[in-house]
Amino acid sequence: MRRTARYRSSARFYDLISAEWPVYRAGRVAAIDLLMLKPGEKVLDLGCGTGLTFSYIQRRIGPTGSITAVDASSHMLDQARKRTRSAGWNNVHLVEADAAELNPADLGGGGTFDVSLSTYVLSLIPNWPRALATMIDVTRPGGRVAVVDMQKPVGSAAVWTPLAQLACLLGGSDINAHPWTLIDSSLTDVRATSARGGHIQVRVGSVAGTSRCSTDGSTGDSPRH
Ligand SMILES: C[S@@+](CC[C@H](N)C(=O)[O-])C[C@H]1O[C@@H](n2cnc3c(N)ncnc32)[C@H](O)[C@@H]1O
Repeated sequence: MRRTARYRSSARFYDLISAEWPVYRAGRVAAIDLLMLKPGEKVLDLGCGTGLTFSYIQRRIGPTGSITAVDASSHMLDQARKRTRSAGWNNVHLVEADAAELNPADLGGGGTFDVSLSTYVLSLIPNWPRALATMIDVTRPGGRVAVVDMQKPVGSAAVWTPLAQLACLLGGSDINAHPWTLIDSSLTDVRATSARGGHIQVRVGSVAGTSRCSTDGSTGDSPRH
């Protein structure tokens, strides 16, 4: 099955069935905290889904900033469009594209962003290194890139592994992909945290350049700087 096919029929119910509040919201919030978004910043949300991260971004960037939101599923983008319209946001640009074959020219605005993030997406994409490389390429020097993704829980939380594996199986994710490792090895000033017994991994790194991001906050259960 194409990995986005499952997001066709489930798109309308995604927000209800995705365990957002009890589980996955934690990673989204942690990434937004570590990114320390500023008013006016241009943000790329790769694999935006129904736009669950939009409100967290909007609160920080305000109306002078913008979100370019990419997803391969037109059905998920329809839900993101509904969310955008009902919130009255005029600064969200929705783009239907495969993240692993992304052409920066399709992103508009010169294809350069202050911040790129991807939440619970890269582990779904077989060629995730290519998708993440594109995120880094389209982020300006000194800008930040965030990855939120999943692995098996660790330590005493390992008892939840079957549940975590089931969630990843249902969503089409490869729980062993560990795409954040490329942030660790490719970017500077890497900040890391985790949540839900290590199941949710969060990485934020800066693209080498002059205007280094000066963040120092972290949340979750195992911060590392
Ligand atoms: C688990 S959902 C996460 C959505 C959103 N980022 C969130 O945090 O709720 C995964 C999303 O990735 C999208 N997706 C999967 N493969 C993709 C690809 N190759 N390119 C772009 N989007 C993709 C799916 O359509 C779906 O919307």
